[in-house]
Amino acid sequence: MKSTKGEQVWLAAGAASAAMAAFLVWAFAQPGTLGMYRWGYRAPVLGLIALGALPIVAAAAARALSRTKGAAPRIATGIVFAASAVTLLTAISVSAYIFTNAYGRAASPDRPTTIAPSDGIPRRTGADGEPILRVAVSSDGHYGRDASNAEARSAILRLSEVEHRSGGLDAFINLGDIVEMGMEADDWREAIESIRRDAPTLPFLALLGNHDALIGGYARWQAAFGPKGGSSAPTGPSPSSWRIDAGRVHFIALDLLWGPEGFGAKEKAWLVAQLTAIPPSDYTVVLSHCFFYSSGYVDEETGMAWYDHADMLREVAPLIAGKADLVISGHNHYMEWIEADGTAWAVVGALGGKPDPVPSYVSPGSVWRNQGVFGRLVLELTPDGLACEFQDQDGTPLFNRVLR
Ligand SMILES: [Fe+2]
Ligand SMILES: [Fe+2]
Repeated sequence: MKSTKGEQVWLAAGAASAAMAAFLVWAFAQPGTLGMYRWGYRAPVLGLIALGALPIVAAAAARALSRTKGAAPRIATGIVFAASAVTLLTAISVSAYIFTNAYGRAASPDRPTTIAPSDGIPRRTGADGEPILRVAVSSDGHYGRDASNAEARSAILRLSEVEHRSGGLDAFINLGDIVEMGMEADDWREAIESIRRDAPTLPFLALLGNHDALIGGYARWQAAFGPKGGSSAPTGPSPSSWRIDAGRVHFIALDLLWGPEGFGAKEKAWLVAQLTAIPPSDYTVVLSHCFFYSSGYVDEETGMAWYDHADMLREVAPLIAGKADLVISGHNHYMEWIEADGTAWAVVGALGGKPDPVPSYVSPGSVWRNQGVFGRLVLELTPDGLACEFQDQDGTPLFNRVLR
């Protein structure tokens, strides 16, 4: 049976809209895309949604005009076919661009030295038989971006490598935004090669940052830093969310990229269960890419406030405050130490990503902050407590506190 013109119009419009809808459903199912829409790139997403709806709206209009006389029905039908072609071609082009990047050739045949969270941080004991733990934490290296400071990034990693080789550093925790654009193989290749050159034996643990996840970048993060080897049994709700018990120090890593988008009931229940299970006399350190408390600024382009993250403070911080000793995050490219709600909140987005502007807003609990200096936060278990020291890229102490 031959299809009528009306059927062809609906078929073309339906196929084009369905193709765009399928791409958008895939994109928003990826970690970080909803956050990206809320915090960063709203216009292109809205443009794709509008373009996806256009063929169906045009087909409905053509149908309404179909019984009118004159040239209107013919013109309307032509518009539906044209709109359908534009939408379909755009959906195919955008999908092809993103899929060939995100799932194309491997970034590198190698990986940095990584720790599988299920294997934990290797245990060391001192001459007196007491357990020793010393780890470095930093975030936001943004490999693949010209504005990033490669020299500072290398200095921090080389210093950590030397310390590790001499038995003075157990692990390096990278809190994400390892690369600028997560779907790009070239950014990951630069990251992997540079890290292997600067710190070939240093054991890494890594979180997923919002830039690492752009768009569909999760597979590339997994290939470079995801759990591999060892028992690799998950210790948390996702490969980038885990718990490691290093003697009396317990690390809990959370998937918080732009904010609490995607951090649902399951993740909250898991977090609460971990915090409840850890003895209060031990040290609990929560790790997150996105900050909770932070001094900061208003982004000129989007008008969004990049300080004291309202959604994080409302939805996630109450589960942690007063229970964890320390929360460490990146995302804002500063170093800062904040004391609030019975917990210390550190920001250490200082691994080389372009420094954020001088804060126009200071978080009320801010004790110390530094803008424009690169470095790391070193945690060391001492007889006095958990010593936390911010250092610059050469290891010069900038600020320290002991959590008792
Ligand atoms: Fe960043
Ligand atoms: Fe970030």
